[in-house]
Amino acid sequence: MSKELEDFKSKCDIAKVVSHYVSLEKVGSNYRGLCPFHEEKTPSFYVNVDKGFFHCFGCGASGDVIEFVKRIENISFVEAVQKVAELCGVEPPLMSKDTFYLKYVSLMELIASNYAKVLFSVRGDEALKYLIKVRGLSKDEIKKFSLGYAPINSDVVRKSAKELKIDENTLIKNGLLIRTKSGRLIEFFRNRVIFPVKNSSGRIIAFGGRSMGDDEPKYLNSSENKYFSKSKVLYLFNKKKVRDAGFAIICEGYMDAIAFHKNGFENACALLGTGLTKNHVDMLKSVTNNFLFVLDSDKAGVNAMKRASKILATEEINVKVLLFDDAKDPDEFFSKHSKDDFIRVLKNATDYWEFYVQRSLGEIGDPVKAILRLKSSISWVTSTVLRRQLISKAARILMIDEKDVMYELQNSVKESKKKKKTLNRVEDIKMNLDDYIVYLLFYSEDMRERIKKHLDDVSVISPFAKKAMDIVNSGVTQAQEALKMMSREDGERFFQIFTKGIPDSNIERVYKLCISKLEERKLKHRIEKVEREMVSTSDHELKAKLIKEAMELRSLLKKKGGASRG
Ligand code: CTP
Ligand code: MN
Repeated sequence: MSKELEDFKSKCDIAKVVSHYVSLEKVGSNYRGLCPFHEEKTPSFYVNVDKGFFHCFGCGASGDVIEFVKRIENISFVEAVQKVAELCGVEPPLMSKDTFYLKYVSLMELIASNYAKVLFSVRGDEALKYLIKVRGLSKDEIKKFSLGYAPINSDVVRKSAKELKIDENTLIKNGLLIRTKSGRLIEFFRNRVIFPVKNSSGRIIAFGGRSMGDDEPKYLNSSENKYFSKSKVLYLFNKKKVRDAGFAIICEGYMDAIAFHKNGFENACALLGTGLTKNHVDMLKSVTNNFLFVLDSDKAGVNAMKRASKILATEEINVKVLLFDDAKDPDEFFSKHSKDDFIRVLKNATDYWEFYVQRSLGEIGDPVKAILRLKSSISWVTSTVLRRQLISKAARILMIDEKDVMYELQNSVKESKKKKKTLNRVEDIKMNLDDYIVYLLFYSEDMRERIKKHLDDVSVISPFAKKAMDIVNSGVTQAQEALKMMSREDGERFFQIFTKGIPDSNIERVYKLCISKLEERKLKHRIEKVEREMVSTSDHELKAKLIKEAMELRSLLKKKGGASRG
C-alpha cells in the first residue's frame, strides 16, 4: 500500500466511520457491536482504533476502514476511499494509478504464451502426451484453455521478463523466481503442466502447475500478491455464461472445471484449493442466486462444504450440492459419462441445508447420538428461522417428532450460553507469560527471531502459545492473518492480547522479563524431572547423584529469583 494511503488511513477514525453504520459500545481498548455482515443477536464484531481494523468472530469478516466501507456500501475501492474521506472530514489522497498492474499482467500473459509454446515444442513432448493420453484433452482444448508447460530447467520466466525489461528483483518479489539453499536462482514452476488463472477482467494473474507423475505436491499455485489471492478468484469463472445459464457450477479442481467446460457447461468454475469465501460468494452473487456445488466425494470435499455454512447462511441464495456415486470428481464423471448423463444426475442434487443436516447427523442408527452430533454442528446458528428449519429437516430424516429433536437440543443451547459468558469475561484479561510470548511473536520480525531462540522446548509453554508458535512457523506472521487460522475461542484470546498494545518503549523490558521467566520455567521443569527420577530410583548411587543435581538446580533457581510464579 502506498505511503499516501497509509497516511490517509492513519488520519481516519475507524470507530467514527463504523458508528455511522453500526452502533458500537466501548469494551476495554476496543469497540463492539452487532456484525453488519451477518445476522447475529450477540455482538461478535470488534473494532480496534489503534490498529485501525475491524474483525468479526462470527463470520470472519475483517479489514481496515476502507474495506469496511467498500463492503457495507458495496462500492469500489476508490469510491470507498472517497466515502471514508467524507465521513472523517479528511482530504482524500490523490490516488496514484497503479502502473505496475499493467506491467504485471503483461508479464504473466507473455509467460503464459511462452509456456504454451514450450508445450507444443520438442521440450513439451512428454507434457503434451500426458494431457492428451492421460487427461483426455484434445489439442484444440489444450489451446482453448491456454494450457502450457514449464520445462525442467525452465528459463521461460526470465526470458519473458527480459523481453519486457522487468528486473530479477520483481520476479523474486512475486515468487516467480526462487533462491535455492545454495543461493542459485531457479524458476518456481519446473516440470509442471501450467493452468493460467484469470481475474474477473480476464487478465492472467497467476498459474497453477500440476506435476505429471506422483511428485508432491500435486499442484502448486503462484504465490499470492496484490493482484492474486486464492480467496478472491474462481478458475474459469465466466460471468456471462453463468448469467445465461441462470446458475453457477462450483467445483474443486482445475481439471474438474475444464471437464465441465468441455462438455458444454461453461457456467462452471473452480476454487483453487481453498474453502469458499465471502468474496467468492459475492462474485457469484453479482450474476446469479443459484449455486450448484459439485463436490469431490472424499471426506475433504464434504467437510469443506460443511465449513461454508456460516458464509452461506447469511445470503439469500439457492444452494444445491451434488456428489456422484460412481466418480470421485467431475473430471472422472465426464471420463465415463456424457453431457446428458450429467443432466440426468442433476436431479440428485440436494438442497444445501438438507445436506448440512444429513452430514451433521451422520449415522442415524442411534438418533440420540445423531442429535448430539447435530447439536455441535448447529451451535453457531443464531437465526431462529434457520435453526427451526434445520431442526425440522433433522426430524424428518430421523423420522421422529420435531419436539423430541428440540428437547434433545435444548441442553446445548444452555451450554453455549454459559460458554459465551465465560468468553466475554476474557475481555479484561491480565496478560501472563504465555500471552506476552504470543504478543512478541507477532510484534516484529526481529523480535520474533529473538524470542524463538528461547522457545526450543515448547513443552514449557501453554498449548495456546504453542499454537501461535506453529502458526508463525508456518509462515503466517501477520496478526490479522493468524486470527483467521484460529478457533473462535483462541481467536478471541489472541485478539485481546494483540490489541492490548504494549507501548513500544516497554518492549525491551517485556522481552527481557519473558526470557528470564522462560528460563526459570525450563529450570523448574528440569528440577521436576530430576526429582521424579530421584524418587523412583532404587539405585543408591544414582539417587545421591540426583539429589546433588536437584540441589544445585534449586540454588540456581534461587539465584535467578525464581521464587515467583512463572
Ligand atoms: N490443490 C492444490 N494443491 C494441492 C492439491 C490440490 O492447490 N497439493 C488444489 C488444486 O486446485 C486442485 C484442487 O485443489 O485442482 C483439487 O485437488 P484434488 O482433488 O486433490 O485434485 P484434482 O483436481 O482431482 O486433480 P487431478 O485430477 O489433476 O488429480
Ligand atoms: Mn481429479
